[in-house]
Order: sequence, then structure tokens, then C-alpha cells
Amino acid sequence: MRTIIKNIAELVNVEHRPKPRAMGKEMASLETVKDAYLLVEDGKIAAFGPMGGLDEEDGRCDLEVDARGGMVLPSFCDSHTHLVYAGSREIEYCDKIRGLSYEEIARRGGGILNSAKRVQEASEDDLYRDAMRRLGQMIGFGSGAVEIKSGYGMTVEAEMKMLRVIRRLKESSPLTIKATLLGAHGVPMEYRGRQGEYVDMVVRDMIPRAAQEGLADFVDVFCDEGFFTVEETDRMLDAAAKYGLRAKIHANELACSGGIQCAVRHNALSCDHLEFTGDAEIEALLGSETMPTVLPGAAFFLNMRHAPVRKMIDAGLGVAMASDCNPGSSPSPNMQLILSMACINYRMLPEEAINAVTLNSAYAMGVSNTLGTIAVGKTANFYITKPIPSYEYLPYAYGENKVSRVFLNGRETTWQ
Ligand code: NIG
Ligand code: FE
Repeated sequence: MRTIIKNIAELVNVEHRPKPRAMGKEMASLETVKDAYLLVEDGKIAAFGPMGGLDEEDGRCDLEVDARGGMVLPSFCDSHTHLVYAGSREIEYCDKIRGLSYEEIARRGGGILNSAKRVQEASEDDLYRDAMRRLGQMIGFGSGAVEIKSGYGMTVEAEMKMLRVIRRLKESSPLTIKATLLGAHGVPMEYRGRQGEYVDMVVRDMIPRAAQEGLADFVDVFCDEGFFTVEETDRMLDAAAKYGLRAKIHANELACSGGIQCAVRHNALSCDHLEFTGDAEIEALLGSETMPTVLPGAAFFLNMRHAPVRKMIDAGLGVAMASDCNPGSSPSPNMQLILSMACINYRMLPEEAINAVTLNSAYAMGVSNTLGTIAVGKTANFYITKPIPSYEYLPYAYGENKVSRVFLNGRETTWQ
């Protein structure tokens, strides 16, 4: 099956020699082709270039799509979400407005524990149906790949239930999906005062079960003040490594907790949040294979300090950004909003922001060899925009959906 997209006003983020991630100054460079075509064959990108260079042979296709002056961009890769959950938490949102902190809400059994109770009670079918609906929203906003974490189960059975839901999503959705076991997201009430025993259970039961049943691609730990210590994280990530599962960790959201250095020591694929990042943390990340991933939606929603992204990029680091879509700290799957926040709140240039939510976030979920840019041989996940004057308009016009048509694996995909 050959499909050609013609009359693209600008084809954005093309690569002739694909690289795994964009670092430091590279983040500000974004190659584009004006008045372009894009050729797709059997779900993969086969060729692209200026309309003027399109020869008759290439032009012959099973399907011809006229972009009508819209732009084409590679789909967003949303490398950090908690998309499988039950219910919503707007009551805590009001508690926060009244002055309670995220940690205070967590301490009295709200927050993650609140979602855990609901997920434990929910059926697999209901969790699947709700998550499928959210995936539909994501597609409509332009995402083509998503990492989804467990973490609202907190018992072996409920965590496996969440991972089985993610497996069903993988099988039935056109999105590229990666599953992460986040057994250590919080400490259940019944383990309060004996947190070490909960960690023992994650090491002894959860990680081996998820690995043996082939349910997880990665293992995550919420390594932060008030949650899991560096020593506990070490134990869990050592166990994950024994099963060949790479780490992606929540770190330095609430304090300079040593989580970033811990991530680097374990060669984690990414470490995420990073509001508390100083010179020592940047130093630790330089030269590592760990992608610092910032979650602007959570910092916005919790009204927290911002990670020092400008400083990180200027120091030579690559930075990725993701939605963190979850019911407690970022209930939105809209990656276009993340793009706007990247520019407004973190002073990223539009080019840097686009690289952060495409190529670098693809790296942060282990798929940058097949997704994240427009390059020959990569999977044809992209969207056509409504007519817009420039790619800078994407972060600029925040709140409006600029996506017109979506193609995943080379096929036009509809959503609800
Ligand atoms: O990434 N920081 C920890 N975990 C989630 C929040 C989950 C929740 O509050 O339900 C996050 O923001
Ligand atoms: Fe998270």
C-alpha cells in the first residue's frame, strides 16, 4: 500500500541521518521542507522532499491525500503517563486550592492511595474502556506513541491487572504503547511503618511476576522525599535489571532527593519531573544515557517550581517533555498544551520544544529508532495541521487544537 501526502505547506522535523536524541544546541535545530510531499509505503516513511522534485514514478500511489496547505509533523511521543485509572480527583483539587499541599493530601490517604482504592475495585473491562477513551483523546491531539505506567494497584494482583489492561491497549490501539511497572508509587496504608516490607514484596513478587508474564517493558520507582528512598530504589532497580527490565524513574519532584544520581547509576532510560535539579544533578546527567524528562503539566497543575530546563539545555543536555496524564497531578492528555508550556514557562524556543516532545520523548520511551522524526524507514506516525502560518504558531496559539488529520502506521486514523 502506497500513500502520498501532497501540497504540505511545511514538512517539519525531517532527518536525513537519524540520530537517537537531540542534545544541547542540537535541540534548537529543526530541519523542514517547504511545499513538500511525503510518501508512505506499508506503514513506513518511504520518501519525502519538495513537490517540485516529485517524479512520476514516486507520484503513482494507491491513495493520494491533499494536505491543502496544512503542515505535517511527526506525532508526539508521550513518554510518561498514568493513563489507566478509575474515577477522577477534583475534590482534592479543591483541597489544594484551599491550601493543602500534595504531600499533606497523600499523608492522609488521599492522592495516589485514593486512586489505588478505586483501581483495586474496578473491573479490568471498565479500566480498559476508560483508558481506550483517553487514548482516543490523545490521538486527536496528535500523539502517536504513549508510555503507560501501572502504580495505582499497589498489590501484586492489582498491579498485574493494570499491566494486563495496558497489554490489551497495545493489542487493540494503533498507537505505539510501552508498559511500565510502577509498583513503588506509594506505600499502602497497611504497610505504613514497615515500608521496607513493601519494598521486599515489590522485589520478591511484583517484578518477577511482571517479567515472567512479559507484561512490562520498564520498571519505575517514585524516588523522592516522603515516598521511596535511594537505598530502596537501588534494591528495586537491581531486581529489575536481573530480569532485563530497564529503569525509568520519578525523581526530584519534591526535593533534592538523590534520585537523579540514582537514575544515572542504574543507567535509567529516563528520569522524570526534576523540579529540584541543581548543578550536581546536571553534572551527573552529562555524559549519561539517561534522558531528563520534564512534565510541565504537573508543575502547572500543582503550581510548583519549574525544572531549570534552560540551564540544562545550555549545559549540553537533551531534554524530553511528556504529559504525565494522571488523575492527581495532570489530568490532561493534550501534548499541544505541553508544547505551549515548554515555551512559556521554561523559555524553550519552539524548535527546542518540538524536539522535546517528539525525538527526545521517543528516546525516553525507547522508540527513537522508529519514531520521533520524519525519516526514511521510520514508522509513518504523523499529523496534518489545519492551515497555520508557521510552526511557531503551534506553541503560540495555546488551547486550540491545530490537528486536522492523523496517520498512524501509515493509515488515516479517526478518533472520538
Ligand atoms: O507523576 N509523582 C508521582 N506520580 C504521579 C502523580 C500521581 C497521582 O497523584 O495520582 C506524577 O505526577
Ligand atoms: Fe508520573
